[in-house]
Amino acid sequence: MNFSGKRIILGVCGSIAAYKAPLLAREIIKYGGEVRVVMTRAATKFVAPLTLQNLTKAPIIIEMFDSSIQSGGSWHIHLARECDAMIIAPTSAATLSRIATGLCDTALITTALSLPQSAPLLLAPAMDSEMWLHPATQRNAAQVQSDGAIVISPSDGDLASGFSGIGRLPDIDVLLAALSEALNLPKYQYKTPETFISDDSENRFAETSTRPLQETIENDKLNAELAFVEIKREYSAAQAERAHKTKNTTIEADFLKGKKIIITAGPTYEKIDDVRFIGNFSSGKMGFALAEVASNAGANVTLIAGPVQLSTPQGVRRIDVTSAAEMYAAVSYQFSQYDCAVFAAAVADFTPVNPTIGKIKKESISNEFDLRLEQTRDILAEMGKCKAAHQIIAGFALESENEINNGRKKLAAKNADLIIINSVNKHGSVFQSDENTITIISQSKPDRPLPRMSKKECAMEILRSIAELL
Ligand code: CTP
Repeated sequence: MNFSGKRIILGVCGSIAAYKAPLLAREIIKYGGEVRVVMTRAATKFVAPLTLQNLTKAPIIIEMFDSSIQSGGSWHIHLARECDAMIIAPTSAATLSRIATGLCDTALITTALSLPQSAPLLLAPAMDSEMWLHPATQRNAAQVQSDGAIVISPSDGDLASGFSGIGRLPDIDVLLAALSEALNLPKYQYKTPETFISDDSENRFAETSTRPLQETIENDKLNAELAFVEIKREYSAAQAERAHKTKNTTIEADFLKGKKIIITAGPTYEKIDDVRFIGNFSSGKMGFALAEVASNAGANVTLIAGPVQLSTPQGVRRIDVTSAAEMYAAVSYQFSQYDCAVFAAAVADFTPVNPTIGKIKKESISNEFDLRLEQTRDILAEMGKCKAAHQIIAGFALESENEINNGRKKLAAKNADLIIINSVNKHGSVFQSDENTITIISQSKPDRPLPRMSKKECAMEILRSIAELL
């Protein structure tokens, strides 16, 4: 990384992620760059301007009409003209919207809109998932991109709201890499002017407040934050390496050789009449991935599949069913002959009491229509009641809150050996997606929260945990 001689404007908005702005400034400076900071008023609630001022050795611009920076009323033009790039990290939804519409009501937006074509504008949105995925925010992101800005996609993970999902400000190294890449794009290769800001305005920046004690404290805080970033980086590298190793040892491991496994997958359809049903969005991908990986690992696999559009993995015996009752019958009929069962199906919890034969005609019912439902049999719980000592059973738990507690309750209530928790808060994690974020909990081992990975990699982790118990 080399920002030597580069003048970077760092914009900071009001977002919890603003605490990372000093880290970013510090890293740019470490790699030879010069940084000037423009903040929104909201950002000052999250990060102290003094911290940024001490780091950059320059005053922080917050207010549009601050008399100390006026320079003939055109300070923003000078600042923008004389920089090599501007990065707004974090970019709040409000700032994104203002840039998209050109609403120059803050010093930050005014600077961003004064940026010449020759300098890249990078925006790193950070907000709650729902805000980021809202059509208005997505529209604004698309608009600024078509206007030439570079949008650095937020990353997936834990959010300030307590939920998980997309919306986190990416790690500092991701931001630095994006900035470096932008600066090296051919269209931005131009000769930079001599001074960052015009001479007469330079004096106003000359006197920076130096408070040794305060600075020491801020520096210590930054060092701790940087160390934390480093630890996280090392942790994800170790995770990636572990996933890679697991993948590579899959084929030769044969770790389920000779074991008989029964797996349920997909949704069930509960008939209302001969043309209508109650169903769910399960794609069956997780159950099919389990069947494929188990078969590759040497197991003798029977897959009980609800209605799905997936082809049968090689070497797997498949039995197609439609309803929860059919799935229950198919499992219970042969369960005792298996070493292990994994219940990955999204079985309907309720089914119509008396499905109509033929089609219910509209004229035969009034505006409102009462449909009586009864609970289906819980296949996992029923098998949990009758399992033999040598049999291992694993179920899934789709939870929207108190994941671990609710998962533990299911583990006990259904007498399962393992429960794999899927969180519905993790966007794109369940049902139609090819990836999943799971936590494996068991009666005897510590909880195993796993990073987001493909459903095949999840299947490998789940089956390895099962193999340890068999
Ligand atoms: N399951 C089952 N038969 C059912 C319902 C659920 O075998 N009739 C299994 C699923 O395959 C899964 C586990 O039970 O492995 C948990 O399913 P989930 O929908 O998370 O929980 P429920 O027990 O249905 O409870 P709730 O929906 O209230 O969370």
